[in-house]
Amino acid sequence: MSDTAKLEYQGRIYELPIVEGTEGEKAIDISELRNQSGLITLDPGYVNTGSCTSAITFVDGENGILRYRGIPVEELAEHATFKETAYLLINGRLPNRSELTRFSVLLNDHSLVHEDMREFFSNFPRASHPMGILSSMVNTLRSFYPELQTMEEEINITVTRLLSKVRTLAAMSYKISRGHRVVYPRPDLAYCANFLNMMFDSPVRPYEIDQDVVHALRLFWVLHADHEQNCSTSAVRLVGSARVNLYAAISSGIAALWGPLHGGANQAVIEMLEEIEEKGGDVKPFVKRAKDRNDPFRLMGFGHRIYKAYDPRARIMKKICDTLLEKLHIRDPLLEIAKDLEQTVLEDDWFVEHRLYPNVDFYSGIVLRAIGIPTNMFTVMFAIGRLPGWIAQWKESLDDPNWKLGRPRQIYIGPSLTKFVPLEER
Ligand code: ACO
Repeated sequence: MSDTAKLEYQGRIYELPIVEGTEGEKAIDISELRNQSGLITLDPGYVNTGSCTSAITFVDGENGILRYRGIPVEELAEHATFKETAYLLINGRLPNRSELTRFSVLLNDHSLVHEDMREFFSNFPRASHPMGILSSMVNTLRSFYPELQTMEEEINITVTRLLSKVRTLAAMSYKISRGHRVVYPRPDLAYCANFLNMMFDSPVRPYEIDQDVVHALRLFWVLHADHEQNCSTSAVRLVGSARVNLYAAISSGIAALWGPLHGGANQAVIEMLEEIEEKGGDVKPFVKRAKDRNDPFRLMGFGHRIYKAYDPRARIMKKICDTLLEKLHIRDPLLEIAKDLEQTVLEDDWFVEHRLYPNVDFYSGIVLRAIGIPTNMFTVMFAIGRLPGWIAQWKESLDDPNWKLGRPRQIYIGPSLTKFVPLEER
């Protein structure tokens, strides 16, 4: 007999099935609970709630493990290109040589964006945040690329369009924000190098592609490619569950990622390190503030809902940060402050008790700075990296036989039946 959990309420016992994942994680299936008992569950922030079963990414936060489709992220970081990682996440397995070539050709074929879209960029106010612009532009893509004839075509072509065009849109927004000429994608360049060229090539200073920089960017994107049901991915799944088109679902994911508690943390980390530097470089007052319950201040780049051990992505990011800065002969004072802060936090009893470790965002900002990415584009870089994960999760949800429109319930705590009072009597 399959495993069940029992819930006793008002003298009745409800048997709830247990669902077990391939890595031994267990969940109580409460999908029939309300029908049987009239009860719902309440779980603010979904801390204990699984929204789906998924075969894409495995995270073990207690032991610092992250795998895409079963492959440890460390191995992918060592051997896979970002394109291969995207293919793996979206299609469930690594591509063979001919599949990879076909994927590359498609990405190249779809890398241009409609020329009319350029007009939009010039109408955003100068101070607009690139994440707001990106989210709007991705939503706008649907107007330029209407629905295709068959569902298969719609999925395959839209997926490649998005993967390729988001990169072009991001670079365009940077160029236009600086008042510079847009650089078009080049068919002879691979995914990461092509993006760097679109960002930094200029008629007066041709961009020289440095393989160390390409390597760092590849790692950054591979490490960010998916992270199961985080805030932005859940947004993509929830919005997607209303059967909106993929562009609209991804646009909502970008909006969620923008938040400083989520993807916006990589920008917030640099701003915090700069503030520490401005105030003389002593990290201790900041650590003290972070521990003060009466102060809302938090150390950006520390802590994670899932990881209660060192984030495996942060470990790789720290290594690439050291190597890249050394190879490029960059002395970034923020790196010294970051290392001092990390050391202080790791030795602090309060942080140890709270199991707060550096997360992926802690060192990634310093890597992006070294590559030449402006701070306000950091979260855009994260969004490009997370795109394959969002797409894979959206695609999986479409194929899920247990698919349902996402619609959480609530416990109402407002006033009971109240009579309307006409304006003249109020
Ligand atoms: N600095 C100081 N204290 C912290 C931090 C931090 N960065 N993170 C958590 N805490 C403390 C909280 O104050 C709380 O303390 P208390 O129990 O004494 O009241 C305790 O740790 C638990 O905090 P929660 O907010 O309940 O933990 P949760 O798992 O919900 O938070 C989060 C995760 C939002 C990421 C949090 O750690 C945080 O705000 N970190 C800073 C922002 C950040 O770096 N975000 C990037 C996350 S990674 C990503 O999205 C890619």
